[in-house]
Amino acid sequence: MKEHPSIILGIETSCDETAVAIVQNGQQILANEVASQIDLLEQYGGVYPELACRRHADVLCPLIQKALDAANLKLSDIEGVAVSHTPGLIGALLIGTMTAKSLAYALNIPFVGVHHIEAHLYAALMTEGEPVQYPAIGVVLSGGHTALLRVDDIGNYTLLGATIDDAIGEAFDKVARILELPYPGGPHVETLARSGQKDRFTFKAGRVKERPLAFSFSGLKTKVLYTHRDTPHASADIAAAFQHTAFSDVITKTLLAAKQENTKTLLFGGGVTANCRLREMFQEACKGEYQLYWPQFALSVDNAAMVAGLGYHVFRRKGGGDDYTLSCLPTNKHLSF
Ligand code: KG4
Ligand code: ZN
Repeated sequence: MKEHPSIILGIETSCDETAVAIVQNGQQILANEVASQIDLLEQYGGVYPELACRRHADVLCPLIQKALDAANLKLSDIEGVAVSHTPGLIGALLIGTMTAKSLAYALNIPFVGVHHIEAHLYAALMTEGEPVQYPAIGVVLSGGHTALLRVDDIGNYTLLGATIDDAIGEAFDKVARILELPYPGGPHVETLARSGQKDRFTFKAGRVKERPLAFSFSGLKTKVLYTHRDTPHASADIAAAFQHTAFSDVITKTLLAAKQENTKTLLFGGGVTANCRLREMFQEACKGEYQLYWPQFALSVDNAAMVAGLGYHVFRRKGGGDDYTLSCLPTNKHLSF
């Protein structure tokens, strides 16, 4: 058994996407398959955990085969398995983790559990480019997390600030629901905002007393609710103002964190980084003074390439695979990796 495998199969089932990927040396993506549950999400207006788990159980094994076929590999070519084992829906995490353990056991290869949010940040490092100058500021903008971290290396993180209520992606999804857009709302809010006037309404993102790097989006979401109730035919302007306010807040706090930690390097991860306007606003605000690392669009939202890619480093950092007693943790409040 290779304790430090190079060809790694990654499994991602922490929420509503079932994903399998095969990545070589932490970087080279040989296959990246995602089975979306968009039909279920649209039907129920959000994630329905029981159904999400059943769907994972139905599609995961065929998806493993699909990834092997896409990479033109056999199961016996896989040298290690990496799986998101925290944070996420507990039943969903268990399906991915049990599958990873079973595969490792049957093939007599090692497996590791990786942190889903760390994998989101790692996705930014899977794009060919300049080597990263550490320390960097890690900017996590996902459906379940919003956080700024100091990153001293892959595997070495210090939490600087996080949301005290809604995550930014969650705020996008709730605003979409208020504006009667389909789930998941982020891409729909982005599209609608393009035809809106961001300055028609003045919204504010939350500030947290004595914690300048913490986030709060629940007040902003409530403001959207009341504005929509009072001005029902202004959805595009509301979407534009909401998006602009939320992103301006993220930019201000990110640049404050960068100043505090004395760095010019920013790493981005999480589903909201798929938003083109976010990327444009950051480019404008950074005026070429900062080095920005964005994930490829396909690696912004949940995927298994980031899991297999990070797994390569986790095997090395742990000096081998995890024990079969590795458990799944649904919450991981402090983002301790
Ligand atoms: O990182 P992710 O795929 O899953 C979690 O780990 O939570 O993030 C999903 C979130 C959803 O809230 C979704 O609405 C948001 O990312 N999202 C977007 C966009 N695409 C996905 N938010 C804003 N603009 C987008 N284009
Ligand atoms: Zn995610």
